[in-house]
Amino acid sequence: MHDENPSLPGYWDKRYASGQTPWDFGGVPVDLGNFLQRSLTPRVLIPGCGSGHEVKAFIAAGYDVTALDISPVAVERAKRTVGAALAHCVQLGDFFTHDLAPESFDLIYERTFVCALTPDRRTAYRDRCAQLLKRGGSLTGYFYYQNTAPDAGPPFGFAWGEADELFSRYFILTKDVEVNDSLPLFAGRERWQERRRTSFKG
Ligand SMILES: C[S@@+](CC[C@H](N)C(=O)[O-])C[C@H]1O[C@@H](n2cnc3c(N)ncnc32)[C@H](O)[C@@H]1O
Repeated sequence: MHDENPSLPGYWDKRYASGQTPWDFGGVPVDLGNFLQRSLTPRVLIPGCGSGHEVKAFIAAGYDVTALDISPVAVERAKRTVGAALAHCVQLGDFFTHDLAPESFDLIYERTFVCALTPDRRTAYRDRCAQLLKRGGSLTGYFYYQNTAPDAGPPFGFAWGEADELFSRYFILTKDVEVNDSLPLFAGRERWQERRRTSFKG
């Protein structure tokens, strides 16, 4: 009698014991696999990665890393830094034109890349970041600011209000703190900033 009531464990015990389990997938269905992949492996883009010091750190923290540099020498160096097993994470390419799917990154990590570009390319940098980040994704890292007169660069520092105005089209500044371990070149003029991609399409 108890064996016919699905509210009681005996019903299920009997099904398992007799192998009558037509619901049992025997593994992980594809959509769940995709979901877990998406939610557990955030994707980070490191444009202008230089020597690639951060690539290993992001991988160790659970990120799927794409590091990009336009200089073959830098790419070679970054591949050496990360080692043969992770060398595939480092690619030769131009941030502005490299084949990267829109809205495919959770994070873009910035360090001394935007300040290496001439200021006339900043709007293109912002737009490219906005294009590549998922909604809610983050443009995060170190941003370099000038004191008063525009610098001869690189590095080209932002004026404070200028950066806010530039990024506010697509981003909300969610964190802004001073940096205490800057290299002498950037000392006192570098901020750690996190900007969240809004849903604005432009
Ligand atoms: C000042 S270095 C910074 C390197 C690295 N981010 C770091 O913190 O050590 C700027 C880097 O950006 C690269 N770069 C310049 N223009 C680029 C572009 N359009 N796309 C990708 N990389 C670029 C340069 O080759 C160089 O390695």
